[in-house]
Amino acid sequence: MSETAAPARKAALYLLNGVLIDHRQLSDMIDKGALDRLTPQDRARAQRLTTDVLRGLERADRLLDRYLRKRPALNVRNILRLGTVELCHGGAAHGVVGDMVALAGSHPRNRQLKGMINAVLRRVAEEGVGPWKDLRIPRLPAWLRGPLVSAWGAGAVSGMEKAHFQGAALDITVKEDASGWAEKLQGSLLPTGSIRLEAPGQISALPGYDDGAWWIQDAAAALPVQVLAPQKGEAILDLCAAPGGKTLQLAAAGADVTALDVSERRMERVRENLKRAQLTAECVIGDALTHSGAYDAILLDAPCSATGTIRRHPDLPFAKDGSEFNELIGLQAAMLDHAVSLLKPGGRLVLCTCSLLPDEGEVQVEEALARHPDLSVDRSALNLPGVDDTWITEEGGLRLRPDYWPEHGGMDGFYMACLRKTT
Ligand SMILES: C[S@@+](CC[C@H](N)C(=O)[O-])C[C@H]1O[C@@H](n2cnc3c(N)ncnc32)[C@H](O)[C@@H]1O
Repeated sequence: MSETAAPARKAALYLLNGVLIDHRQLSDMIDKGALDRLTPQDRARAQRLTTDVLRGLERADRLLDRYLRKRPALNVRNILRLGTVELCHGGAAHGVVGDMVALAGSHPRNRQLKGMINAVLRRVAEEGVGPWKDLRIPRLPAWLRGPLVSAWGAGAVSGMEKAHFQGAALDITVKEDASGWAEKLQGSLLPTGSIRLEAPGQISALPGYDDGAWWIQDAAAALPVQVLAPQKGEAILDLCAAPGGKTLQLAAAGADVTALDVSERRMERVRENLKRAQLTAECVIGDALTHSGAYDAILLDAPCSATGTIRRHPDLPFAKDGSEFNELIGLQAAMLDHAVSLLKPGGRLVLCTCSLLPDEGEVQVEEALARHPDLSVDRSALNLPGVDDTWITEEGGLRLRPDYWPEHGGMDGFYMACLRKTT
């Protein structure tokens, strides 16, 4: 057992059990300190092991089924899954198998299973690594696959699953001089102006991080502010602002930004991010449903199912079950109605969600237009560098999907539309 491996593997098992048994989200467990006692290297390793297992879970189960007479209890299966995925990703058999046996042995109830775990994982190490690559790309669970196939078709959903399995590189948004920073950071400049870094290593050690010359933001997530096209001196409300990627873009454009979020803890992240980027915005802790004021433009990045972010959050299909969809859809509509009341005449509102579900995007806009005769869709706002015409939807919004840009390595799923208040 290598000295640094055990804590990372132990922590990865803790996180896996949290997601797969208790249906908790990784970000929640990490925010609550699950990895605080680890070294930065072990922390990164534990997260990588966990996300590798979640991305490859279906393959691990299919492989393990070849060697198991019956599936053991979930906590034991998670040890086997963790070992299997690490072995199939090239982990050294001795260290992986030894640590998995030790993890089982640390719980009195599982001690008698140590022999089985040793035998099964040794077989995986000897025979399973080849077949692993031939197993099908893992599918989304039925609660999510069903609605996505209805919306986009089976072929598109297979493309999304491929993108989810591949995971995501790190995208950044720069304050200025995107091509100069792409060269300095050895990244690639994407058609929409974001920079993609394939193997960035320790992010805070990269040039420009300390001075706030750039911030982490998926290329898709950088587009809603481009669609809003903030102008210097405009009064702009960022209605659901934390952790603040879009607030930074708005402030960097010279707008007079009010950043509002209901969560005090998350607003602290906005403040930290503004400070690092040497930008300013008025930070308000409050409810988007009751906030008052009059603004030239509003960005509504509403709470949503986040189903567009599975490339980076492979825990989501396991931690959630879709039961919160209806509540979120109702909240988005209520927020949109209130946001319209805060717009000056002639003002514009960008609604966006990191969701793959039309009910949280296209349908929201269609229904808002029916409820508000003084609203219209501004299609010209989508006329942006790198935006493909085929991404523009019937009602005049922009639909982004993980299966788009396969040549660049995909993008997050997102929806956005620019609405103008005529009176
Ligand atoms: C999708 S995230 C926003 C991401 C952010 N715009 C960014 O680019 O970094 C949604 C945010 O909505 C906030 N939120 C949820 N309900 C809210 C409410 N009633 N009023 C204000 N903010 C709310 C959450 O705390 C969360 O930070």
